[in-house]
Amino acid sequence: MKVFPKDFTWGVATSAHQIEGAHTADGKGPSTWDAYCQIPGKINNGDTSAIACDHYNRYAEDIKLISDLGVTAYRFSICWSRILPDGKGVINQAGIDFYNRLIDGLIAKGVTPYVTLYHWDLPLALQMENDGWLSETTVQAFARYAEICFQAFGDRVKHWMTFNENWCTAVLGHGTGVFAPGRVSQTEPYLVGHNLLLAHAYAVKKFRTGSYQGVIGIANNCDFREPLSNSPEDIAAAQESLEFFYGWLTDPVVFGHYPAIMRERLGTRLPEFTAEESELLKGSADFLGLNHYTTHYASRQAPAQNAVAPGDGNGGMSEDQHLYLSSDPAWPVTSMGWFVVPWGFRKMLNWIHQRYNGLPIYVTENGTAITANGVDEAIDDQERAYFVSEYTQALKQAVTEDGVNVQGYFAWTLMDNFEWCQGYNMRFGLIYCDFDSLKRTPKTSYYAYQSIINESRNSTQ
Ligand code: NOJ
Repeated sequence: MKVFPKDFTWGVATSAHQIEGAHTADGKGPSTWDAYCQIPGKINNGDTSAIACDHYNRYAEDIKLISDLGVTAYRFSICWSRILPDGKGVINQAGIDFYNRLIDGLIAKGVTPYVTLYHWDLPLALQMENDGWLSETTVQAFARYAEICFQAFGDRVKHWMTFNENWCTAVLGHGTGVFAPGRVSQTEPYLVGHNLLLAHAYAVKKFRTGSYQGVIGIANNCDFREPLSNSPEDIAAAQESLEFFYGWLTDPVVFGHYPAIMRERLGTRLPEFTAEESELLKGSADFLGLNHYTTHYASRQAPAQNAVAPGDGNGGMSEDQHLYLSSDPAWPVTSMGWFVVPWGFRKMLNWIHQRYNGLPIYVTENGTAITANGVDEAIDDQERAYFVSEYTQALKQAVTEDGVNVQGYFAWTLMDNFEWCQGYNMRFGLIYCDFDSLKRTPKTSYYAYQSIINESRNSTQ
C-alpha cells in the first residue's frame, strides 16, 4: 500500500484578521480591513471583524484545540499593524509580545509555527498616505516589517510565507473592488501584483542575507482549469488560464519573469522588471504554497450549458483571457458556490510540480464552507468530513502515485471565523464558533481530520 512519507506535515491554518479581534487592543493600529468593515454595504449582514473569534485573548484555548487535533503544524498570519501601528514607524512591543506568547505556546505543545507575514490586513496609514500597494513606499515598508519579524521571531520560526493569495489583493482589491481597498480598475491589478512581487523579493533578500535559518516561500491561490474538450483551443484556454492565475504571481519568483502569454495579451498594462529586479526575484521561493478550493472547465467558445458567469473566479482579469468557464452538474457545490472536484486538486498539484520542476509544494489552504442554523446543525458537518477525506485522498494519489513533491497540507480552517465580505455567515471551520458566547465546539470534520492524520502516521514507513 502506498503511504505518505513519514515526515509529511499535517497542519491547520488561520489568519490574523479573521480570528484575532481585539482590533484596538494594546496599541494596534487600524488596518484597511478594519476601515472597510465600517463602510455600509461592504460586508454581508453589516458584520465587523472587531471581535471575530477573540483569539487575541483566547489563544491558549485555541492552542489546546490545535494540539488535540493532532496536527504538528499551525499556519497563522501576523497582523502588520500590531507590530507597526502605522506600517512604517515605531515598533509596538505589545504586538511582538502577543506573537511571542502564541509561538512559545505552540512550540511547548510540539506544534511548529508556519508564519504568513501578510494576509491582506494592510496598515491603514499606508493606504491613506501612500496609496497602499500602488506605491513603492509600501514595498519598502513591507521589507522593513518583514525584517523586524525575522529578528523578533526567527529564533523559533523556521517556516515563513511572505504573502497570502496576492491574486485576491490584486484582482478583488483593485480590479473588481469587492475586497479592501475596494478599487475598480483594469490596470491597477497588474501594478499591485508587480509591487507585491517586488515586496516579496526584497523581504526574501533580507531573510537570506540575515543570519536566519529556515525556509521562506509564498502562498498563492489557484483553482484548477480542465479543458472542456480535447480541442487544441480548449487545451490552450485551460493552460493560459492557469498561467494568468497561478503563473502570474509564481513564475516571477521561480523564473524571474511573467508568463509569455500575459506579456503578449497585456502589452504595456503589465509592468516590466528591471534586470536587477528579475535577478532578485528568480529563485526567491524555497517552496510554493497553494491555496486551492475548486475546479472549472475552460473553453475558448461559450459553452452550451452550465456556464459560470464571467468575472466569477476567472483568475487574472477575466476580460484579458479569452476564456469561458463551466461546470459539471454532477459536481457537489459548497455554500460559497464552489464545486467539489478532488481530481482537479490532484491535477493542480501535478501542474505545479511540472511547471516549477519539482520545487517543494505546501498546500497552505484547502477547505469548504457550509452555512448552518445553530450549533447542532453546524457540528454535524458530514459534507466537510467527506470533503476532507476526498481531497486528502487526491493529495495522497498526487504524492504517492504521481510523485508530486508536496511536503505538507494545511486544512482551512481551525474554526469558523470572519470570512471577509461574507462576514460570519460562511463557516469554514473544523470547529464551530458561537459568535455571541465565543464558545468553540469541534465538529464531526475535526474528528474526521484527526483520524486521517492518525491513520497516515500509523501507516507511514
Ligand atoms: C483563502 C483566504 O486566504 C482565506 O482568508 C479565506 O478565508 C479562504 N480562502 C476561504 O475563502
